[in-house]
This record gives sequence, structure tokens and C-alpha cells, in this order.
Amino acid sequence: MKILLFGGRGFMGQQFLSLYPDAVAPSVDIADAAAVGRALDAEKPDIVINAAGKTGVPNVDWCEDHQLETIHSNVTGPLVLLEECGRRGIYWVHLSSGCVYLGDNGGKGFSEDDPPNFDGSFYSRTKAWSEAVLREFPVLILRLRMPFDKAPHPRNLLNKLKEYTHILDAQNSITYLPDFLQAAGKLIAKRRTGIFNMVNAGSISPYRIMELYRELVDPSHTFERLQLKDLPQRVKAGRSTCVLSTKKLEGEGIAVRPVEEAVREALLAMKKW
Ligand SMILES: NC(=O)c1ccc[n+]([C@@H]2O[C@H](COP(=O)([O-])OP(=O)(O)OC[C@H]3O[C@@H](n4cnc5c(N)ncnc54)[C@H](OP(=O)(O)O)[C@@H]3O)[C@@H](O)[C@H]2O)c1
Repeated sequence: MKILLFGGRGFMGQQFLSLYPDAVAPSVDIADAAAVGRALDAEKPDIVINAAGKTGVPNVDWCEDHQLETIHSNVTGPLVLLEECGRRGIYWVHLSSGCVYLGDNGGKGFSEDDPPNFDGSFYSRTKAWSEAVLREFPVLILRLRMPFDKAPHPRNLLNKLKEYTHILDAQNSITYLPDFLQAAGKLIAKRRTGIFNMVNAGSISPYRIMELYRELVDPSHTFERLQLKDLPQRVKAGRSTCVLSTKKLEGEGIAVRPVEEAVREALLAMKKW
């Protein structure tokens, strides 16, 4: 089984390379149809994974000021892959985001069928726009949120929270990368298509995560509580805070681990960094 991975140098691309060490990861602009076509014809993959995209550095505020670059990678690129993979009948996987919702949907969490209700950042809008088209086609669309891991990385949520002085106290769905990779591997092996919420079960606030950090990793760490109403004063783009349903994933027979259990595991690993 030959896998072609776009965006292999990025955070999520590296994650997929750990799942599929033999994947080919060419350096190709996914919005360049001719270059994508050449890569597909040269490698003839069974599966294409798109881990390329712009999330902004140091955060999504960057996308507000770099809208054309963000469109290029988050909208044009996925549409090119849709055409080029579609024309060749290649099964492909796209990484999307759960940051297209706000709230917890009356306690139920948002399902894959609920229309996005958050458009407060350009980044989130680009993810919703590409999803709106791709969901009409046989593409596997994996939505992750605020990924965290047991290994250090600047994009690991735990690395980020550790640096913040003010920590948001709002419930969120978040994605533990070891669990994500296992579940993604199963969905890909079954050639599933459509949208899947790839988050852990239940919800947790970043504030609670840092309370656990203080308990399990560093008792001397200090931080202040940030209420949702005060967040707009600290960021340029709006931020999605939301809870997603994991029913569809569970319906695939995939065990979805409770989020606090996963956070504890990652924090205990973090203690040894
Ligand atoms: N990290 C998160 O919190 C998160 C959460 C939800 C969803 N996602 C999604 O996961 C995907 C990957 O994100 P990430 O966190 O791995 O970001 P990342 O670390 O910035 O990696 C993205 C990679 O894609 C490359 N890239 C950007 N535009 C490209 C293009 N037009 N053609 C080819 N490669 C391109 C980047 O290269 P350059 O650095 O050279 O631009 C980078 O190597 C994105 O679609 C993102 O929306 C991420």
C-alpha cells in the first residue's frame, strides 16, 4: 500500500510519518495542479493524505493578515487535490478542524452533520469553506482540535499552555495525538469517507489542564484564570471554543478515551521532558 503525504514537514505531517514510515512525502505546492498531477503520476499512490495547510505562526491571528496565502493552502490546495485525486480515482484524506463551532450544542456536542456556527476567524472560515465542498465527495475529512501530545513540540497544546500567563476557563473538545493516529489508521484501513470528529470523549478547559499540570508536573507553576468574555481583548481573531460529539467515531467500533485520562497520560510523560 503506497501512501503519498503532502505537508510532511509540518507538525501533523510528522505525526502521519510516524504512523506510515514508508509514506512518500514530496515537497509540492498542493495548490499547483500540474505539480500535484506529476507527483500522483510518478508515485501512483493508493492513498493520499493532505497534512498541508496554513494555521498561522505563532497562531491563527497570522491568517487575518495573510488571507491570500491562507486561501492558497487551505482552500485552493484542497480543491486541487479533489480534482487531481478524483480524476485518477485515488482515495484521499484531508485534515480539517473542529474550530468551526461555538458552544456545546445544548450539551450534546456538535455532530458531523451540524452546520458550522463559528465564523469569527479567517482561519476557521477557510476550514469550513473547504469542508463544505469536500464533504460532497468521497474524501475522508478528519477534524481535530487543539492537538496535544506526550512529546514536546511548539504546536503541542501542552507546550503552548505552559507559556501562557492567562489560561482560558472554557470547556473544549481536544485531540490526543496518539489516540488520533490510532483512530485515523483504522478509518483509513477501512477506506472510510465523510467527516469525522477526531477528539477525545467529553470536554475539558485549558484552565483544568493547567491545574492538572500543577498537580502532576510542576507545583510551583503559576497562572491566572481567563474568562471567555475577556478573551477578545487578548487576541486579534476570534477563537472557537466548542464541544464535539464523538458518537460517529464510536459507531465505527473505535474506543474513544475520556479526555482527562488522556491529558493525565500526556502530563505524566511531560514530567520527564
Ligand atoms: N495544529 C493544529 O492545532 C491543528 C488543529 C486542527 C487542524 N489542523 C490542520 O492540520 C493541518 C496541518 O497543520 P499543522 O499543525 O501540521 O501545521 P504546520 O505544522 O504548519 O504544517 C503544515 C505544513 O504544510 C505546509 N504547507 C503549507 N501550505 C502548503 C502548500 N500550499 N503546499 C504544500 N505544503 C504546504 C507547510 O509548509 P510551510 O511551513 O513551508 O508553509 C507545513 O510544512 C492543517 O490543515 C490544519 O488546518 C491543525
